[in-house]
Amino acid sequence: MTRRIIIFDTTLRDGEQSPGMSMTREEKLRVAHGLDAMGVDVIEAGFAMASDGDFEAVHAIASEIKHAVVCSLARAKRADIERAGEAIKPAKRGRIHTFISTSDIHLEHQFRLSKDEVLTIITDMVKLARRYTDDVEWSAMDATRSDMEFLCRAVEAAIAAGATTINLPDTVGYGLPGDIAHMFTTVRNSVPNADKAIFSFHGQNDLGLATANSLAAVLAGAGQIECTINGIGERAGNTALEEVVMALNVRARDFDVQTGIKTEHIMNLSRLVQQITGQNVQVNKAIVGANAFAHESGIHQDGMLKHRGTYEIMTPESVGLTKSNLVMGKHSGRHAFKDKLKDLGIALGDNALEDAFTRFKALADKKKEIFDEDILTLIDPAGHQARLKFVALSVACGSQGPQTASLTMDIDGTTRSITQEGNGPVDATFRAIRALVPEHASAHLLLYQVQAVTRGTDAQAEVIVRLEHEGRQVTGRDADVDTLVASARAYIHALNRLESFTQRTHLLEAG
Ligand code: KIV
Repeated sequence: MTRRIIIFDTTLRDGEQSPGMSMTREEKLRVAHGLDAMGVDVIEAGFAMASDGDFEAVHAIASEIKHAVVCSLARAKRADIERAGEAIKPAKRGRIHTFISTSDIHLEHQFRLSKDEVLTIITDMVKLARRYTDDVEWSAMDATRSDMEFLCRAVEAAIAAGATTINLPDTVGYGLPGDIAHMFTTVRNSVPNADKAIFSFHGQNDLGLATANSLAAVLAGAGQIECTINGIGERAGNTALEEVVMALNVRARDFDVQTGIKTEHIMNLSRLVQQITGQNVQVNKAIVGANAFAHESGIHQDGMLKHRGTYEIMTPESVGLTKSNLVMGKHSGRHAFKDKLKDLGIALGDNALEDAFTRFKALADKKKEIFDEDILTLIDPAGHQARLKFVALSVACGSQGPQTASLTMDIDGTTRSITQEGNGPVDATFRAIRALVPEHASAHLLLYQVQAVTRGTDAQAEVIVRLEHEGRQVTGRDADVDTLVASARAYIHALNRLESFTQRTHLLEAG
């Protein structure tokens, strides 16, 4: 019988905890709703103990999500598990995911725990988690570098204490597909109570093998795969959901498994995560890269015209890629705009919708043709409730210098203006922002990136600004037909995000 593979998405936990990927509660909710609509089985919504912001995000997702199991990560510590239990309380189906290392290198050098102490902790903490929910996942951090015999004892203890899912992660992305298959086969065959739990794999991509390793785990009996949209995550990232799901689909006969993922949602989720995090995937990224379905060479184009199957192993439609549609113009109304957003997988509250619609009208006045990509950039990244708002900018630039920027902002409801000189118009604009918001002047600019959203000289420029302050990295993003306006807005967006994270300290490191 065809096995059902559980898709456990950790975009909002492992994905979000990597540099520059922080998301606000509202952004996390948008992604969670998208994941739920796509048919993800488990959403790891965050790490409730990490901060009040994380707790609130997990709690809000647990309150709103209708279908998926909502999960919080917790270290093997009483306070973590209690906090995770509180955070998932409103969920229709909630899971606590607790973990502890099992490898000698971690136990000796990081945690300074003996193996017997680890076994006791596993038993106590899994039992504690079971007081909050029947659905408890236990992970053996650094499983791939653990002594197999000890790993088996730890798994047995976790299952005996009530863990219903056992995750064997390749925490440092060290394993090869053969190692992963061997680990799953050994543990499943040696642990006497192995049949009482579902086995899961969590792969990191340090050697570019996360997807291959996940597929090896499935072949060796894993019933759950942990992954993220676009493969975001610690260091080189995690297994990309879109890759593992499409591999299982395209090669269904070889795996004889199925997932519950509605693959046509993949592109929208990928774009949403790119838009929120400001991290674009590379053009040749499997499944979701801009070139993933582009055929350039003459011989390939010839074949495609004769039969798509000559060079396409899956259709672009199967992952939700439709031709970039010419959409509405300046006469289009609110209703059509809302429908378009729905097609693109975007659901906005009334205020955010109104704000996006105003931006759409302003863009339609300046730009003749508006494409799906343009619409996606209109979703106000700064948020209408932000403290710092862009009002107006005019810039003097050109070969004669000096370049100056005159900027007006709304700060806490007060309109303030300033003119600054700089080494070029972008520098002048950013200096003007720093002069109006001196409390953030020390935020360090890590990245300033500009790219055209579509083709043509009237294309919108999409600007990404990454700032770093006290160890926290945030990404701001905006688009406009005027590159400097987009730059100012992207910088202000980053500052607003920095503010929303001031309370949010990642106390912990995991995964
Ligand atoms: O990489 C890892 O080991 C993790 C665990 C917490 C699952 O993220």
